[in-house]
Amino acid sequence: MRTRITLLLLAALLGAAASARAQSASQPETRPRSNGLALTPPMGWSSWNQFGDDINEAIVTGTIDAMVANGMRDVGYVFVNLDDGWQRYKGSRKAHPLEYDPVKFPRGIAYLAEYAHARGMKLGIYSGPGETTCAGYTGSIGNEVRDAAMFASWGIDHLKYDSCCSHKNAPPPVVQKIFRDMSNALLAQKRGVVLHACHCGWANIWEWAPALGVNHWRIGQDISDDFNYPGNREGYYFDVLDMLDRGVGLEKYSAPGHWNDYDMLIVGLNGKSGELVGTGASNIEYRTHFSLWAMVDSPLLVGADVRHLDAYSLETLTNKEIIALNQDKAGSIARRAVDNGELQIFVKELADGAVAVLLLNRGAATANMSFSPRRDFAMPIDRYSVRDLWAHRDLGVHDGVFTAEVQSHEARVFLIRR
Ligand code: GLA
Repeated sequence: MRTRITLLLLAALLGAAASARAQSASQPETRPRSNGLALTPPMGWSSWNQFGDDINEAIVTGTIDAMVANGMRDVGYVFVNLDDGWQRYKGSRKAHPLEYDPVKFPRGIAYLAEYAHARGMKLGIYSGPGETTCAGYTGSIGNEVRDAAMFASWGIDHLKYDSCCSHKNAPPPVVQKIFRDMSNALLAQKRGVVLHACHCGWANIWEWAPALGVNHWRIGQDISDDFNYPGNREGYYFDVLDMLDRGVGLEKYSAPGHWNDYDMLIVGLNGKSGELVGTGASNIEYRTHFSLWAMVDSPLLVGADVRHLDAYSLETLTNKEIIALNQDKAGSIARRAVDNGELQIFVKELADGAVAVLLLNRGAATANMSFSPRRDFAMPIDRYSVRDLWAHRDLGVHDGVFTAEVQSHEARVFLIRR
């Protein structure tokens, strides 16, 4: 009798385990998968926005040297990421191996990784889950394990893995597989490699990318060098405000280790990119763009030629007080607390209890903008100190409502403390 009861119990337990397995096979894993990296949004430089695929060893070493010399490395920009165009061959992976271009990179990629590491920086590289990449170079499809091992052996620290807007209408498991295969291959390496899944903001990637171990994912198509271009350039490109609006509702998917990516920065391109479309933005607009990307916890990947940055752009990109908002360890993305169309207020709560407040004027005329933490942010704060993070000035203690003048297309950023 006792044996029968034991057997029945065992059968019941085995049945429960089998059904749990069946359930987990049919329901995709949703818990974030951590590689322990990107606990704050990655900061660095990427070759694409300025150079397109016209890159080479001298540009990369010159960029690293410049970032050390101009202070960018020391405020946190440590990644130097090769985008598309480092590869030797154009055309299908079936027809060509994946190798670096020996003319552009005579000493190879491992040399550049060593060059970066010796200066306290990191090196990133680019590939994609197709036969070819976006610019037509050989991709990684079917060779994920081999390529991940090659990248790791070179000392790579970051991979941008770009579907190039392919698989738009593919069923979710198919789209997920192309990124999972590379994520698994990277996780099997001893080297920690930050994974960026670039999928044009399609297939609700933010819902499933964290569970695949992706560290950041683009929320939209490519940015153009514009603050507010009417419509989408060429029906494809997003300007700064388009990208900002694209992120509304996605705030909850961003968290330490897994970030919404609003695309690479256009600060300093000044309409002179060798690659991106767009006519450039004003200094104030670029500063607004930078402040917004910081507030929404986007990776801060500079796209301009940092070897020749103008003084205003460098000052914008190295504002430590703004960077601190982006790198705050709470990782709580700014929410749009007030939205009057042209006048919007963003609020970001920081780990130490301070609150960052960004006043954005999207309109054509200067405006006075006001906020009260209690009325507008539902925060029990009546008396608070205010610091202006662009003027680097304390503005004293205030009660209730605070008012500031905000120019057209300007963002003023304040830190308030109880
Ligand atoms: C796509 C990406 C860009 C860049 C290019 C490279 O367009 O969105 O950021 O990586 O491919 O070909």
